[in-house]
Amino acid sequence: MRRLFDRTLKPVCVSARSVTIRWLERRNGIHTEVEIELEDLGVDAPGRVRYKPAAWFIMRRILPPRKVASDDVFIDMGSGMGRAVFQAARSYPFRRVIGVEISNELNRAARANIDRSRGRLRCREVLLVSADILDYEFPDDVTVVFFNNPLVGELFAAAAEKVLASVDRRPRRVRVIYCNPIEHEMLMRTGRFRPVRRLRGLRPSAEWSRSNSTRMYEVSARSRRDTAPESRLSRRLRGGVRYALWVRCRAEQFRHLDVAGR
Ligand SMILES: C[S@@+](CC[C@H](N)C(=O)[O-])C[C@H]1O[C@@H](n2cnc3c(N)ncnc32)[C@H](O)[C@@H]1O
Repeated sequence: MRRLFDRTLKPVCVSARSVTIRWLERRNGIHTEVEIELEDLGVDAPGRVRYKPAAWFIMRRILPPRKVASDDVFIDMGSGMGRAVFQAARSYPFRRVIGVEISNELNRAARANIDRSRGRLRCREVLLVSADILDYEFPDDVTVVFFNNPLVGELFAAAAEKVLASVDRRPRRVRVIYCNPIEHEMLMRTGRFRPVRRLRGLRPSAEWSRSNSTRMYEVSARSRRDTAPESRLSRRLRGGVRYALWVRCRAEQFRHLDVAGR
C-alpha cells in the first residue's frame, strides 16, 4: 500500500504542495521552505532536530485566530527561518511574538523574513532570539507555546520543564502546540499537559501520519497538594486517620487469633 502510494499519489501531492507553498511564500515576501541538517549549520548535537518548517496550514487549523486575545503572547521554541513566527504575527492579535533559535544563520534568515513582511504584520512586537532553548529564560507572560519537534528525549523533557516552571512561577492559562509529537507520552507522564485538540496526519502508515500530526495541550498549575505546606489541622487529621486504621487492623488481628485459638 505504502509503496503504491509512494510511486503514484505521493509525487503528485508533494509537487502540488510545493507549488502552493512557493506561491504563498512569494505572496507574503518570505522564504522558509527548505530542509537543513544541523551539521551543515555547525550546531548539531544529540537530541537536537534539523530545520524543517511546520506545514503551512497547521497553525490556523489548530489555533483559529478568534481563539487568541490581545494579551496573549506567542513563542516558537526552535523558530528556524521564522515561518511560525511570521504566521503568528501576521494573522493573530498577539501582544508579542517571540522566536528562539540556536542557529545564528537560521535566525538571520528569520529576521530578514520578518523585516521584509513587517508592513503586513498584525502584531508589531516580534522578537527573534539567538539562543539554546535550554539556556533561554522562559518569559512568564507567554501563553501560547509552539514546538515543531525541535528536540527529542531528555532535551525535550528539559524544555517542557521550563514551561511548567514558568506556569508555577506565574499561574495562568498556557496552550502548547506540538507538531510531530514524538514525545507525547513523556508529556502525559508529567500529568500536567492535558490534550485538548488533535489534528491527525492522513498518511498511509502510523509513523508517517504522526510526523504530520499536531496536538494541542493545556498546561495545569501544580496542584496545591504538591506545593502548599501542610497545615497543622490536616497533619492532625492525617495522623488521626492513620491511627484509626492501625487500631482497626490490630482489632482484626486479635479477632483472627481469637477465632484460631478457640
Ligand atoms: C523542525 S525545525 C522547526 C522550525 C520552526 N519552528 C518552524 O516550524 O518553521 C526545529 C528547529 O529547532 C532548532 N533547534 C534545535 N535544537 C535547538 C535548541 N537547543 N535551541 C534552539 N533551537 C533549536 C533547529 O535549529 C530548527 O530550526
